[in-house]
Amino acid sequence: MPSAVPSAVATAVEDVDPQLREALLACWTDVSNAGGAVGFVPPVSRDDVAPVLDSLLERVAQGRERVVVLRADGELAGWAVLSLSVSPLRRHWATVLRVQVHPARQGQGLGRALMSGVHDAARDLGLEMLHLTVRGGYGIEGFYQGLGYREFGRMPGAIRLAPGDDREEIHLYVEL
Ligand SMILES: CC(C)(COP(=O)(O)OP(=O)(O)OC[C@H]1O[C@@H](n2cnc3c(N)ncnc32)[C@H](O)[C@@H]1OP(=O)(O)O)[C@@H](O)C(=O)NCCC(=O)NCCS
Repeated sequence: MPSAVPSAVATAVEDVDPQLREALLACWTDVSNAGGAVGFVPPVSRDDVAPVLDSLLERVAQGRERVVVLRADGELAGWAVLSLSVSPLRRHWATVLRVQVHPARQGQGLGRALMSGVHDAARDLGLEMLHLTVRGGYGIEGFYQGLGYREFGRMPGAIRLAPGDDREEIHLYVEL
């Protein structure tokens, strides 16, 4: 499906300036508070998210991770992370993290455009395969399966959203 927003483009960035950091922080906070499965349980404030973002940006500065930024109509509409392997035996694949489209812009084909940019960035890095995990109970695996990802396992109780609310973690991969 082509993006419903023709101007949408997702590209990998190596330098995150303060303006982009602010936009990433605002998006991550809004997505989390809308119930998105991106590392937090709502409610969260920018102060909760900022230290986690800043440690991610340190890994980006070290070249261990890449941020893929989706822009639509000139604004940040979503983003994702490619986390590269440090093991010489695993350098042909990476893990995708923090996939998110701003709640105001979901359901318009932008998630698909974002993942297309992630795949292009991964190919440019010479990667052959991508891995990611999703929280059980959200149905998000359907989004990735529509993009060619295949499930290969589930870890029971891996994610504790709250005492008594453990969720399985679903593992998926795609060959590029
Ligand atoms: C998951 C997410 C990135 C999808 O982005 P989006 O812009 O809403 O998705 P799109 O509009 O590009 O949808 C692409 C396709 O996936 C399908 N899809 C989207 N979300 C889905 C879901 N939760 N379950 C099943 N299918 C889904 C769409 O129906 C569409 O299918 P089609 O091409 O057959 O019409 C977005 O909903 C999001 O940011 N969610 C909150 C954060 C989150 O939980 N991220 C996942 C981390 S693992």
